Amino acid sequence: MSTTIPNRAPDTSPAEILKAGIEAAQGPVSLACSFSLEDVAIIDIASKAGLNLGVFAIDTGRLHEETYEVAEALLERYRLKIDWYFPRHEDVERVECEKGLFSFRESLENRHECCRIRKVEPLSRALKPLQGWVTGMRREQSVTRGDLKAIERDELNGGIIKINPLIDWSESRVDEYVREHNLPINRLFTQGFRSIGCAPCTRAVQPGEDARAGRWWWENPEHKECGLHRR
Ligand code: ADX
Ligand code: SF4
Repeated sequence: MSTTIPNRAPDTSPAEILKAGIEAAQGPVSLACSFSLEDVAIIDIASKAGLNLGVFAIDTGRLHEETYEVAEALLERYRLKIDWYFPRHEDVERVECEKGLFSFRESLENRHECCRIRKVEPLSRALKPLQGWVTGMRREQSVTRGDLKAIERDELNGGIIKINPLIDWSESRVDEYVREHNLPINRLFTQGFRSIGCAPCTRAVQPGEDARAGRWWWENPEHKECGLHRR
C-alpha cells in the first residue's frame, strides 16, 4: 500500500483525526460500533463534519437488550445504515453443545475461543471490503491501550488504516460530549456500568473501581482484550 500515515499535532481534534485517517485510507472506511458512549460520539462528530463514514456492528448473540435499543435510536436519529455481522452458527452451536453456555468463565483459553468465534471472526469479514476502520478506543481506558496511535496501519488486518479519533479524550470528556449534544445513550450507563460488552461478561462497577473493572471481572487487567484489537 502506498499511503503514508499523517503526523499529528498534539491538539488535533477528533474530527481532524477522522478526516486525515479517511484521506489516508483512500477507500471505504467504517466505524466499528459497539454503541458505547465513544462510538455514539464518533457518529455524531462524523455526521456534523459531513464525513463519509460507514458503520458496522458485531452482534455477538450475547449483547444486552439495552444495547440494541441504542442501535435503534441511532438509526432513527441519523438515518444510519448499520452493517450487522453475526458469528458463524456452526461454531456457536459446536461450543454451546460441547462446552455449555458459560464456557468462557472456565478458563482464559475458553474465553478466547468464545471471543474468537463471536467477535474476531465476524470482524475479519466486516473488514474485508474496507480500506480503513474507526474505533472508540482511548489511551486512558486500560493498561493494554496506553500506546495507541491516533492513526495507524493495522498490520494484522491486511495493513488497512485504523483510526482512533478519541485517543486523548478522558472518560469525563466523552460523557460531557454525549450529554451536551443529547445523544442516545445506553441505559446501563445510568446503572453503574462504565464499559459495556457482552451481557454475561460485563457488570456494573463500584465507586473507585477502574472503568473496565466490570469487563471479564474474574480476569487480570492485562488479559482484558477480546482479540478485536490485537496489535
Ligand atoms: S473490547 O475489545 O474490550 O470489547 P471495547 O468494548 O473497549 O472493546 O470497545 C472498543 C472499541 O471496539 C469500540 O469503541 C468499538 O469501536 C469496537 N467494538 C467493540 N465491540 C464491538 C462490537 N460488538 N461491534 C463493533 N465494534 C466493536
Ligand atoms: Fe463470549 Fe464473553 Fe467474549 Fe462475548 S465477551 S464473545 S460472551 S467471552
